[in-house]
Amino acid sequence: MNGVVSIEIDAPDDWHVHLRDDEMLEAVAPYTANAFRHALIMPNLVPPVTSTAMAAAYRDRILAAAGPDARADFTPMMALYLNDELNTADLLAGAEDGVVFGAKFYPAGATTNSAAGGTSLLDYRAALETMADAGIPLLVHAESTDPDVDIFDREAVFIEQQMLPVIEQIPELRVTVEHISTRAGLDVVRDHPQVGGSITPHHLTCDRSDLLANGMRPELYCKPVINSREERIAIAAAATSDDSSFFFGTDSAPHPLSKKEAAKVAAGIFNAPYAIEVVAELFHEMGALDKLEAFVSHRGADHYGLERATAKVRLIRNADDDGEPAESMRTAGGAEVRIFGADAARRWTWESIR
Ligand code: NCD
Ligand code: ZN
Repeated sequence: MNGVVSIEIDAPDDWHVHLRDDEMLEAVAPYTANAFRHALIMPNLVPPVTSTAMAAAYRDRILAAAGPDARADFTPMMALYLNDELNTADLLAGAEDGVVFGAKFYPAGATTNSAAGGTSLLDYRAALETMADAGIPLLVHAESTDPDVDIFDREAVFIEQQMLPVIEQIPELRVTVEHISTRAGLDVVRDHPQVGGSITPHHLTCDRSDLLANGMRPELYCKPVINSREERIAIAAAATSDDSSFFFGTDSAPHPLSKKEAAKVAAGIFNAPYAIEVVAELFHEMGALDKLEAFVSHRGADHYGLERATAKVRLIRNADDDGEPAESMRTAGGAEVRIFGADAARRWTWESIR
């Protein structure tokens, strides 16, 4: 076999992605549309996507930008931004019409384009109860914005203060802890059957020493910030385990180099081009390739009550790492965006098979 590994899996989903708008959308949408069946689209545009009409229009722009090589089954799943603007009747109508999939809560100021977010998740109790009744999932950026809380503890504190009360008081509400970065995130998912957790390629493969130890690397800066080695190892163990509550969400979040290499570095990692490759390489290293399909293709769909894919993808790991994957791309206007994961892409290739 010359050390070549080849596996076939059901087509993967990305349960958390930022595609932006305009020129950036045009540049990044094809990567997601070529690789993933479902893509759960985050609503943190400026202004945020807070109505069904805005979500429908954004979905149309995404489909128009998906490009000629988009998967035939590529489906953008739209989330509304949960803040004071959100009208519950509109959310319900949007969900009923199949336009709106879920609602995303951002604590104001926690991350990129979250200025319009809420102060506390508990303020939205009425909307959350309605969502629970209608089976609309709540997607949560679980990070405290309390300046007195250390940046590496903010996921745990948010979960304790804002998430656990909601989960316990509204147990019918389906909840996702997005981009889990710590054991606190893993634990709240494990402790509650109605709670799922998305896990990113970068939280699976990097720790804060990668970010900070050998010259600070702005391309690895995201929210929630990549945490300790122990947290990373626990996250990788969860993703490769048989626990059906953990699934793949890239949190691919492109920013132009001018924002990533700046006095105040923008939070967000653009990983869509090689997201599958990065995860495949990690699972390969961990001897867990037999768990890859469950993590990237099955568990998210199961959590959200959707059919599993019928189409398949073949992944091939080459014996040599002599490929030359691009390490950045440019928008039509010339803005450069760094791409995460080129090392894994030197090894892995994939193709869609029917
Ligand atoms: C995201 C972005 O850039 O939109 N950034 C990030 O660091 N993950 C927002 C988010 O998901 O927090
Ligand atoms: Zn995100």
